[in-house]
Amino acid sequence: MSVSAGVEAATALRSIKKAHPSLSRLDVRILLLHCLNISLEQFIAEPALSLDALQADQLNNLIARRLKGEPISQLIGQKEFWGLPFKVTSDVLTPRPDSETLIELALEIFADKPPAHILDLGTGSGCLLAALLNEFLEATGVAVDISADALALAEANFEALDIGERIKTHCTDFAAFNSGTFDLVVSNPPYIAEHDRYDLSADVRDFEPAAALFAGDGYDAYRKLAKQVPSLLNPGGVVILEVGQGQAGRVLTMFEQSFREKGVNATSLVKPDLAGIERAIALKRP
Ligand SMILES: C[S@@+](CC[C@H](N)C(=O)[O-])C[C@H]1O[C@@H](n2cnc3c(N)ncnc32)[C@H](O)[C@@H]1O
Repeated sequence: MSVSAGVEAATALRSIKKAHPSLSRLDVRILLLHCLNISLEQFIAEPALSLDALQADQLNNLIARRLKGEPISQLIGQKEFWGLPFKVTSDVLTPRPDSETLIELALEIFADKPPAHILDLGTGSGCLLAALLNEFLEATGVAVDISADALALAEANFEALDIGERIKTHCTDFAAFNSGTFDLVVSNPPYIAEHDRYDLSADVRDFEPAAALFAGDGYDAYRKLAKQVPSLLNPGGVVILEVGQGQAGRVLTMFEQSFREKGVNATSLVKPDLAGIERAIALKRP
């Protein structure tokens, strides 16, 4: 089934939903509004608005791709994080609401004295660093990613959000990054075990970049970070990491041990996400 030029938007929504019951009404509406380039408010005010030939073609194409599992964020090329718009492609992980837990934790920890210099290891779309610089207005940042394509997109996002001048980017393995020291280091590294690949939904497994998802037994990236991060922190500095469900305890132990090997007794904190899952951990250097 495909929609034709001249069809009214409300009719197109109904007929697509009827022809493809597996698609959610919300997904169809997001794609329809994207092709019409209108807001939900405009759609409600003018349901009789019709699609021209180009818009109908574009919508048919996007519906066909959605039916194959492509994520909505990649189809419309955008996702909101911490109230900010981010360009999204298949080169980066789509920013997740769960990751906003890291920003909340940073705001709690730095409530009295904001961090001046922030490092984001595995920046992807740049969402964590951009959200932090949007909160800590005097801070500067460094964004690191092993993927040149991801970093190029992060740079485009930083420019679009008008924070490009406050950020330096480095395309490198975070295991090799040792340029400077920071008040806050954040990272949402890949943390899914290879053997859990087929437990993931197809739209994640088949469309999001493997380098953003998988990490050996699930802890490979944390091992690299645990080695590297203690020497990247200023005295009083804090590292905040995203962890997968059930990983918080083991990752904390890994980092505490690594700090101890450098003669530092770090204090730690864990913060759950909105579903009650331990999602963000923090370790503070005295
Ligand atoms: C889970 S994604 C997180 C992206 C973004 N920070 C977010 O929270 O949405 C992990 C990112 O780390 C990058 N990455 C994976 N391994 C890396 C490594 N060894 N060194 C640097 N970056 C790495 C990936 O390319 C990917 O962009």
